[in-house]
Amino acid sequence: MKLLRNNDDLAVYLSSLSGAMGLVPTMGYLHPGHGALLKAARAQNQAVLMTIFVNPTQFNEADDFQSYPRDEARDLAMVESLGVDAVWMPEVDAIYPPGDTFCLHEKNHNTRMEGIHRPGHFYGVATVVLKLCLLAKPQRIYMGEKDYQQLQLVRDLVASFFLPIEVIEVPTQREVSGLAMSSRNVRLTKKQRKQAAKIYQALCEQPNVNATRQVLNDLGFRVDYVEEYQGRRYVAAWLGRVRLIDNVALDRR
Ligand code: PAJ
Repeated sequence: MKLLRNNDDLAVYLSSLSGAMGLVPTMGYLHPGHGALLKAARAQNQAVLMTIFVNPTQFNEADDFQSYPRDEARDLAMVESLGVDAVWMPEVDAIYPPGDTFCLHEKNHNTRMEGIHRPGHFYGVATVVLKLCLLAKPQRIYMGEKDYQQLQLVRDLVASFFLPIEVIEVPTQREVSGLAMSSRNVRLTKKQRKQAAKIYQALCEQPNVNATRQVLNDLGFRVDYVEEYQGRRYVAAWLGRVRLIDNVALDRR
């Protein structure tokens, strides 16, 4: 497995490729959800490039950025065992060169759910994904259903900027309890982790948005939103200082 640190390393790696390459962008602290993206990429491409980059521009809260879990040694051991060809771990300057003043403004997703509750978040996501795609030039990019609004944002980004890239959706990976896997789960106590599983339960079992919100309030979550949009029910809720998001397709509940 190749470890790419700077854009020159990336260029050398790219020039060694012959067939299709699948890009799996992540912010690290890997879990089986990321593993599922890799597996899908492995099956469809000659080469798989994973990026691990905790993108500063998508964090709307300094506290969340500081406390975002990071463990390079742990991540590298994990990717090695998953059969990745190369891991790209750029420094911030490699993605945002000094003097960079650009940021992508998006007008739809930014006005609903995550867009409203995390101001500027999707600008940061769109900007970094565009930069990663322009630098790595993948044939396919792998995105998780877990962050469904983000997945749609990337689909729209690819269409708007005529990127010759196929966006592949990978189903949400869950713990046995139903809790959607997430890097942030590590910040939950054992008790909170048990309680967090109730989000998926409420999403699946409650008859409508109001009942879902009520149940979560009663369980002690601080709910940012419960919404239904284009055949999917979405939730974002806080448990202590950890913010959790999840969604389900209404016809698959
Ligand atoms: P991160 O949260 O590390 O997630 C990387 C990718 O893994 C995203 O496409 C996400 O939807 C997917 N993923 C996370 N948990 C999953 C789960 N339980 N099941 C299936 N897929 C899951 O999302 C980001 O990073 C960043 O915003 C990024 C796109 C890398 C841009 O910085």
